[in-house]
Amino acid sequence: MLPHKQIELRLQQAVRAVLPEADVLAVLVRPCPDPKFGDYQSNALMSLAKSRKLNPRQLATDALAKLDVSEICEKVEIAGAGFLNFRLKPVVLAQTLQAAARGEHLFSEKAASPKTAVIDFSSPNVAKPMHVGHIRSTILGDCLARTLRLLGHRVITDNHIGDWGTQFGMLLLGWKHHLKPDALKTDPIGEMERLYKMVNATGEAMATVRDAARQELVKLQSGDGENLKIWREMIALSEKQFDEIYSRLGVKFDHTLGESFYNPRLKPLVEELVVRGIARESEGALVIFFDDIPSLKEHPTLIRKSDGGFNYTTTDLATLEYRLKTWQPDEIIYVTDGRQQLHFQQVFAAFRKWQSQLPSANPHLPTLAHVWFGSILGEDGKPFKTRSGETVKLADLLDEARERALKIVSEKNPDLPEAQRHEIARVIGLGAVKYADLLPNRQSDYVFSWDKMLALQGNTAPYLQYAYARIKSIFRKAEETSPAAPKRSEGGNIEHRTLNIELAAAEEITLAKHLLNFGLTLEAVAEEYRPNFLCNYLFELAGKFTAFYENCPVLKADSAVRDSRLALCDLTARVLKQGLETLGIETVEQM
Ligand code: ARG
Repeated sequence: MLPHKQIELRLQQAVRAVLPEADVLAVLVRPCPDPKFGDYQSNALMSLAKSRKLNPRQLATDALAKLDVSEICEKVEIAGAGFLNFRLKPVVLAQTLQAAARGEHLFSEKAASPKTAVIDFSSPNVAKPMHVGHIRSTILGDCLARTLRLLGHRVITDNHIGDWGTQFGMLLLGWKHHLKPDALKTDPIGEMERLYKMVNATGEAMATVRDAARQELVKLQSGDGENLKIWREMIALSEKQFDEIYSRLGVKFDHTLGESFYNPRLKPLVEELVVRGIARESEGALVIFFDDIPSLKEHPTLIRKSDGGFNYTTTDLATLEYRLKTWQPDEIIYVTDGRQQLHFQQVFAAFRKWQSQLPSANPHLPTLAHVWFGSILGEDGKPFKTRSGETVKLADLLDEARERALKIVSEKNPDLPEAQRHEIARVIGLGAVKYADLLPNRQSDYVFSWDKMLALQGNTAPYLQYAYARIKSIFRKAEETSPAAPKRSEGGNIEHRTLNIELAAAEEITLAKHLLNFGLTLEAVAEEYRPNFLCNYLFELAGKFTAFYENCPVLKADSAVRDSRLALCDLTARVLKQGLETLGIETVEQM
């Protein structure tokens, strides 16, 4: 067990001894914000004291009297209003690193009680190109899935594509009268988008076109064979193009259950909501009111329009019901842009009302989380567009990333074989785009800047990928200069079972302690749905590694010190690689 977990468990036991009724699972040990005061800290006793009107320092003193962590830590200190500060014994630090070097762990542990999480992300719309807004959802959602899986949770990813809705009336009309088969072959989504835009524009001026489109929609909804066939083809063509992008991005889904999948369930669901008194008629529509929720009081939601049609909310309620029944999740995570905040507040509130009224009310309703994000802006501070003012298509963006990266790689390393330069450019270009998306606080807008994201200096993916490749080059050199250097096995583990890690220099200790915080960082990402924590952790890791490498000779050191330092290099490389992989970013051995 990692040392911070041991401290946490023992602290929980000590608190239980002092306050037998307290919820000790909320007693957590986290990295100390200022290393001056210690390596780990717990502030849990302060809130426990506060809610019981106890003196927090006294409570801390009492808990400390029951706490024995003497083989792990130096003397535990009570600070400020009742913080506990812990400092690891050097031998424990070294042992933890040794166990990692032997491949026993990589500074994180599987969750003691794994949960089931459904992640709904990407979810583009059929017959429309995936744009940069969908990239954020795809990249964030994929990173959250990877993080939760790494922590040992059961993750189900579901791409809730928009494959149903009023737009199909216009698409069908356009398809039947204006389709250009050649264009459909070369760029199906582009052609469908053209049809939609054309019918939509004429429909604005001509009521007859609007009516004809509505007719097509009604026919589709009532199961007309021809319309269903065209509709299915539109979905298949769109999914093919989406899949190309997903495979470039390295993103996979367990399920792609689009909106249409829930169709058969909408009518009975709405009926049930009416019978249970959750929805009622208002001006011809069926509406859920939230009079008891102040923030939603002014925002009732329709679940059936006055023309009898169902909408996005109805589908999301049916989707929730299905997921609950099928997977019994503990958590459902929706990743979309911030403009859908009200929608999800309504869906979640409606769902709670409905579930609380079921006869066999589920005592464990899942946590529902809307993980929303801001917009991507151009360098002019306005929504990111192409020069001609169109929305930027994801495929074009990824092409450009690769081209720009190729230029940089070719300048830096003209001697590398061409195929290798292309592969490096693919990895760097993709990594740069993903990282630029993951690094900012997801709720703020960010400015899309090629120069910034592709820079080899600063908090960027290429910088981290370069840091990784540089460590790999140390090992290449080590093997040249001394064939007896610790060899790494397939998994990258140092083979020397007897390896002794000695941490003497300040930079070695700082680096080692930072390595130990990898798992805690992953847990924080999963708790708050914030991949930027991991980005910043890795950036700091690379910085601490540089400080170590500049101040502590590795290859020129005597053999015992050299082996120990090589092990530190190897562990840093492995954490960098695993961390980047969790962000969905690949690495190369040489750049
Ligand atoms: N298709 C929607 C869009 O492009 C996103 C769907 C998000 N997921 C959901 N369950 N509503 O905006």
